[in-house]
Amino acid sequence: MSDRCSAGYDRIARHYERIEKLRFGNTLQRARLSSIPSLANANSSPHVLVLGDGDGRLLEAFLKYCPTAHVTSVDASPKMIEQQRNRIPALPQHDVTWIRSPIESFVFPTSTFDIVITAFFLDCFDASQLSKLLPRIADALKPQSIWYVVDFCEPEQGPRRMWAKFWLAIMHTFFRWQTGLRSRRIVDPRPQLRDLGFEPQSEQTFHFDMIYAAVYQRQSERQRP
Ligand SMILES: C[S@@+](CC[C@H](N)C(=O)[O-])C[C@H]1O[C@@H](n2cnc3c(N)ncnc32)[C@H](O)[C@@H]1O
Repeated sequence: MSDRCSAGYDRIARHYERIEKLRFGNTLQRARLSSIPSLANANSSPHVLVLGDGDGRLLEAFLKYCPTAHVTSVDASPKMIEQQRNRIPALPQHDVTWIRSPIESFVFPTSTFDIVITAFFLDCFDASQLSKLLPRIADALKPQSIWYVVDFCEPEQGPRRMWAKFWLAIMHTFFRWQTGLRSRRIVDPRPQLRDLGFEPQSEQTFHFDMIYAAVYQRQSERQRP
């Protein structure tokens, strides 16, 4: 990740929610929160990895549901991390470790996390970056772990596909201008997740099917087809 990229996210950090709401109202937040109740048993204390959580609205909501989770949140932007810290109340039961690092150079621990959350994060990468990143994330997860992905996508066909492509092109242009984003179009990570042994448990779509929230669970070798 370039300095331009983290500087770009620093610049938009304070306005991120406002920019999002101008275009999507509350839809992105609805998508982010849609599967949180199914992620973790409120009585358990899962180890959770949150990647590129931005201004922390998802993490804040997750901790309300699962306050005793042990969370590691990695983000390259110091200002985004500051926003996250400001949102999370300093309650004694909250165990959150913030790591400011580009994901490309972050050294993931092995088989450590029960849950990973990537919301509107995997869309920051092109196909070759994703093909390197996804296996590294998978290696950090335990057997039977959960991967919660919320992201944009291109519906298969029809007017919804044209609509999504139009808006995704505008968003890519905006993020390329602000952050130097390398990716020129959305890459669907779901086929690769399945190749890595993660099976979809649930999927909801939003906003004319251009947004999805999917819960994947890692299958043991025995369960795999
Ligand atoms: C598009 S925003 C998504 C924010 C949030 N997850 C959401 O739901 O809106 C991408 C986030 O990932 C971070 N990010 C982007 N590229 C990154 C990279 N290569 N390494 C680490 N963090 C990165 C940005 O700083 C930003 O907080």
